[in-house]
Amino acid sequence: MTELTVLGVETSCDETAAAVVRVVDGRVQVLSSVVASQIAEHAPFGGVVPEIAARAHVEAVDGVIAKAMADAGLDFSDLDGVAATAGPGLVGGVMVGLSAGKAIALARDLPLMAVNHLEGHAVSVRLTEQVDYPFLLLLVSGGHCQLLSVGGIGACRRLGSTIDDAAGEAFDKIAKTLGLPYPGGPALERLAESGDHERFSLPRALLGRKDCDFSFSGLKTAAARLAERLDNDADRRDLAAAVQLAIATQLAERSDRAMALYAHEQGGRGLRFVVAGGVAANRTVRAALEATAKARGFAFAAPAMAYCTDNAAMIALAGAERLALGLTDGLDAAARPRWPLDEQAARDNPTHLPGRKGAKA
Ligand code: KG4
Ligand code: ZN
Repeated sequence: MTELTVLGVETSCDETAAAVVRVVDGRVQVLSSVVASQIAEHAPFGGVVPEIAARAHVEAVDGVIAKAMADAGLDFSDLDGVAATAGPGLVGGVMVGLSAGKAIALARDLPLMAVNHLEGHAVSVRLTEQVDYPFLLLLVSGGHCQLLSVGGIGACRRLGSTIDDAAGEAFDKIAKTLGLPYPGGPALERLAESGDHERFSLPRALLGRKDCDFSFSGLKTAAARLAERLDNDADRRDLAAAVQLAIATQLAERSDRAMALYAHEQGGRGLRFVVAGGVAANRTVRAALEATAKARGFAFAAPAMAYCTDNAAMIALAGAERLALGLTDGLDAAARPRWPLDEQAARDNPTHLPGRKGAKA
């Protein structure tokens, strides 16, 4: 029997999170998962303020880790390793969590795993479902929008990514023009619930293109122009519904393209499609992707809602999978504001920014 118990720490954006995950013979148990959100501190500014985030992480991180250990009913001596997000993200915040992880690793003589936040999102579905590698992944969050072929830990290849905004960033910015509070994605989804998505027609970017890239800036501008002229809630609900459908449609159409390419590469075997990241919490987006996957003969999987947005359970699991492969890091591991999962693709196509930008940055 192999059993690994790992503490994960996540501080790359506006959530201070810690979690303990145990993997027993490939079966995953989340023993605890604590997320302290800073939303209230950033809300007055309409987005995340890096200095406020870093200070809030410093204040919260020790208590959040202590709670994760207490909820799991464990002592540090019960751990086999410590995983901390080392990037990409707001570097002041990343340094806080990474330093906390290093301190525990040093004091308890435990291996450290410096985890890429995006790898955390990539494995997040495996916290609650048995999804084997390889799979095709759509990673959609506030800072990222990319399609990746995931062969396993450390084996990701990018098939496409956004040429401007990330999908979550588009949700957040359009929500702001509709007068909704930060973070805009969930608020826009609620507003859209009783809206008529056919009232407004919005541009559909890149549809039918052969590559797997995304673009949301045209939609953002069109929606902002329409929003300016609206003066009642019924109209705003209809626009929110149209925006949500336009984003879901683009995500599904680009994923459909990637599925066709991926199915060809895989010789039609082991076809699995996974969506992860904050935007995966959106029910219209999930439904559109699930329907697309089904039509292409792909099995569809998405993380439990709590593991779509930022959390430390996904970091602990990525750390445990790394530890099982002997992939540990020294205490000199650096915090990295930018850190593409597929370094080769980032070098080949530097216009496709691999790190965070926009509202979440
Ligand atoms: O994964 P995440 O927590 O942080 C990043 O790594 O970026 O994603 C946050 C993003 C935000 O842009 C937020 O508005 C979006 O995910 N989001 C949603 C929903 N829940 C979160 N977007 C649309 N609908 C939702 N229900
Ligand atoms: Zn994230």
